[in-house]
Amino acid sequence: MNKVSGFSKLSKLEKINYLVDEVLEGRPSVNKLIKSFWHDDKEEQQVFDDFSENTLTNFYFPYGVAPNVLLNDELLCVPMVIEESSVVAAAAKSAKFWMDRGGFKSEVISLNKIGQVHFIWEGATSKIETLFNEVKDELLDSVKSLTRNMEKRGGGLLDIKLVDRTFDEPGYYQIWCEFNTCDAMGANFINSVLESLAKNFADIVESKFDGADSEIQIVMAILSNYTPDCRVKAWVECHVDDLEDPSHGMSGREFAEKFSRAVRIAKIDVNRATTHNKGIFNGIDSVVLATGNDFRAVEACGHTWACRDGSYRGLTDVSIVNDIFRFKLELPLSLGTVGGLTSLHPLAKVSLDMLGRPSAAKLMEISATIGLAQNFSALRSLTTTGIQKGHMKMHLMNILNQLEATDAEKEIVRNKFEDEIISFGGIREFLSGLRNYQ
Ligand code: MEV
Repeated sequence: MNKVSGFSKLSKLEKINYLVDEVLEGRPSVNKLIKSFWHDDKEEQQVFDDFSENTLTNFYFPYGVAPNVLLNDELLCVPMVIEESSVVAAAAKSAKFWMDRGGFKSEVISLNKIGQVHFIWEGATSKIETLFNEVKDELLDSVKSLTRNMEKRGGGLLDIKLVDRTFDEPGYYQIWCEFNTCDAMGANFINSVLESLAKNFADIVESKFDGADSEIQIVMAILSNYTPDCRVKAWVECHVDDLEDPSHGMSGREFAEKFSRAVRIAKIDVNRATTHNKGIFNGIDSVVLATGNDFRAVEACGHTWACRDGSYRGLTDVSIVNDIFRFKLELPLSLGTVGGLTSLHPLAKVSLDMLGRPSAAKLMEISATIGLAQNFSALRSLTTTGIQKGHMKMHLMNILNQLEATDAEKEIVRNKFEDEIISFGGIREFLSGLRNYQ
């Protein structure tokens, strides 16, 4: 492969040609394949191209819905974007189960987000603290042109404080900023305010102090994706007897106790906790993606929250008190329903329409609910039938597609494996027998 220079300046076709000729060693079929995923409408395609850089084509993910999600007494059809089979089915199954038991409840606890200006200043701590307190109002005023619109919407820069971290790193301080970004995820707003604050504070330090004390290094100014004060909880509850399901061969109480044990195991064992939380994020991420939000930010934050006491733990909690089974998920979630991709991606707009154009707070409630629904379904399967029974059934279509089964073959295989254990090898063997016989 030859080195390429100025790649970003090449046209899309030139980029594809470089990829096919230089990287894939001349496989023209790839050229055709890449182009086959372009949008028919050139203007729509341009919207997608502009989301990112060096764009060649689109990478499809399935877009599905979980219907019948009863949340806070409102019936919702929730959009989910995910490539893994079983996830949407599990959410839908959980929604159906809880629909008959009062539905899901969810509540936003708080909505504040954090940003930090990280800086180094080598003088006496008391001196910078005194200066900061003297100029705090001036600093807040200095970013008014950036915060005014957000304030009109009920948010803005709520407070700033100086944090002394000199015990961790010589001369290291932060200007710790709290924001409310209303219905916006707010990353651009927060980062613009922080960069402006950083510059204004550096100017003040340089003008107010002399000699070495006038030297300040702004290391960086950036929002924190850890938002413990932008938090939501979702929960379900019912009498233990209402958990009875004849197909499990367990009483409602036996099921509740076994289920609770599985939740507790995720609290004490990091290996299980990771998988437990992965399942929760199967649900949350799929809603986050469908609504054009940032799933990396959401996951990073959730995992930090999961180890807030020093050990990584499962994110859900369960209790059985006075025969009432209560299952809860509480976590920080920073989402937006205006601005960014939410208003650019045509399907993100459809998702938000589907949810009745929710506020960011409501979207937090919906996403947490789907995370909880997902975890309920996963643990219910794990503690009763085992996960593979349902999972492989859903995965069957992927296996058949991989084996290039015809519609007629798919039908035969589906019927044959209705009540049998499904494995890739088993299906391949059966299909090859079928093909030989035919
Ligand atoms: C698979 O994507 C997710 C599960 O492994 C989650 C879990 O084990 O709780 C089923």
